[in-house]
Amino acid sequence: MDKARKLLIAGNWKMNKTVAEALDLVRGLQIEVGLVKEVDIVICPPFTALSEVSKAVLDSKSIRLGAQDLSQHNFGAYTGEVCAGMLKEFSVRYVVLGHSERRQFQKETDALINAKAKTALAASLKPIICVGETLAEREANITEKIVDTQVTGCLAGLTKEQMDEVVIAYEPVWAIGTGKTATSAQAQEVHAFIRQRVAALFDETVAKRARILYGGSVKPSNTRELMSQPDVDGALVGGASLEIRSFSDIVKNSI
Ligand code: PGA
Repeated sequence: MDKARKLLIAGNWKMNKTVAEALDLVRGLQIEVGLVKEVDIVICPPFTALSEVSKAVLDSKSIRLGAQDLSQHNFGAYTGEVCAGMLKEFSVRYVVLGHSERRQFQKETDALINAKAKTALAASLKPIICVGETLAEREANITEKIVDTQVTGCLAGLTKEQMDEVVIAYEPVWAIGTGKTATSAQAQEVHAFIRQRVAALFDETVAKRARILYGGSVKPSNTRELMSQPDVDGALVGGASLEIRSFSDIVKNSI
């Protein structure tokens, strides 16, 4: 696909996969898409599998490692948390922040996600910052207002240089794990809006370079159509990233 920005396909494994299962999956992915150069590939296993998976992708030309969250603090008495330095030990390059499940179940706010983004950037980790409206918000016609508040809050205080390292993922909450995908037109509309907001907050050049992923029931059969939209620069894949076949087909269908 001839795109303005190099596509990024990220797999968010969520709370799935034992170490043995994670290794089966990553070894299969290496065989299927380990030599792909046309798109960037990131896999985000649970913390417990990072150590072993990082060894399995050490020599990979294409597959990079991401984490699903990090603490905004760098060390100390924060029971249960994992800090940037710990992720760096396993060659983690990306970190998903502000996923709607964390906003919903851990009550994460834009201010917290912003603090985590700053911590990640200070450690040279690339944040994948998730935004998106609920079904009630879409039906109330306030999608842009919600997404604008999230984008503005999560990116507050970042420099242009830092913004170059940030990936945004637009994930309409009503499309996550539901089998309901936003139409490519719905995705494009919000992606273009987010890019406009990034231009207003930073500048046109930064906005042109920024990668904006779509997430929410991405599967092999809808990848091509979604990725053909001018402002869709990749995908954040949940359910379909848990199997070798479906995730590698998504990667292949995005080329
Ligand atoms: P899904 O999840 O692909 O299973 O809808 C996407 C996500 O939550 O990142």
